[in-house]
Amino acid sequence: MTVIPTKTSLGLSSRLVNGILAIKPLANFAKTRARNMMINRAEALGVPWRKNLEQLSERNWEREWDAVVNRQLQYPEYYVTSFHAYPEGNLSWKAAWEVESAAYAVHAKIWQEAGIKGDAKLRQSYHQVLQEQLTSKPATIVDLGCGVGMSTLTLQDIYPQAQITGIDLSPYFLAVASYRASQASTKAQNINWLNVAAEATGLPDNSCDLVSACLVFHELPATAAQNIILEARRILRPGGHLAIMDMNPQSEQFLKMPSYILTLLKSTEPYLDQYFGLDIEKTLVKLGFSTPTITCNSPRHRTIIAKIASI
Ligand SMILES: C[S@@+](CC[C@H](N)C(=O)[O-])C[C@H]1O[C@@H](n2cnc3c(N)ncnc32)[C@H](O)[C@@H]1O
Repeated sequence: MTVIPTKTSLGLSSRLVNGILAIKPLANFAKTRARNMMINRAEALGVPWRKNLEQLSERNWEREWDAVVNRQLQYPEYYVTSFHAYPEGNLSWKAAWEVESAAYAVHAKIWQEAGIKGDAKLRQSYHQVLQEQLTSKPATIVDLGCGVGMSTLTLQDIYPQAQITGIDLSPYFLAVASYRASQASTKAQNINWLNVAAEATGLPDNSCDLVSACLVFHELPATAAQNIILEARRILRPGGHLAIMDMNPQSEQFLKMPSYILTLLKSTEPYLDQYFGLDIEKTLVKLGFSTPTITCNSPRHRTIIAKIASI
């Protein structure tokens, strides 16, 4: 697989953006403006962002929090940083309450005609690849980096017979996930939510048929990505599959993206350079998987499916 070239010399607009981001008050002003623009754009598309936030923030989350939080968990250093313009990254209620609206807003741009349905279409396009390439239905699924359960609940919909475990480092996100599941199907109420790192799940060896990582790898430094692949290898049964759906660095949309926009994107996604620079195909093969299939499932996303290599 060819790896996206990392631009070494930055254009004037990118240097300007970097210059602004380096000055804290200016960076904060830019982030607030970008955030307000995003909320207004989402609401214009029909995502009731502020109303959703208000409803979720008024709930008492004690029960869900106590049910999911792992008080022994030590967060990896790379995780305890700002993501998506939230200073506490994924470790805050606000991030957890807003992430679903943000996903609808961001994914509304993938296909012109889909608008607010872009997020559902993206997940369907991923599931279509899964269903085409997995010859038998997985009975046990682990959803790594499950967030507020958007990927977990949709996996449960396409594999209703499967027992699913959703794993995430953020107890805030998991609390929202368990609440969303309680409002969904009876089957969804059996999902097991685990507040652990995807690189150290604590699950038994050879215990699942499918490990799915949906929109997670772009949030990881390269070493974490490799450790997570190794952990997936350990918990998968012989013949099991690892599926990774995420941004496609080779897509026209990224290759042609104006560099100042890319710079702005990188300011909210701290490990994007490492993600773009990782040769995922080589890495998977090196870590015990057979050569994966790589399928473009949207104009800017790819699905990678790798099977455990037979010894
Ligand atoms: C962009 S969200 C994707 C959420 C969900 N899979 C979806 O499709 O909507 C990435 C998630 O990965 C989680 N995450 C990042 N690094 C992780 C790690 N090392 N272990 C477990 N979860 C992780 C984050 O907390 C976040 O919830």
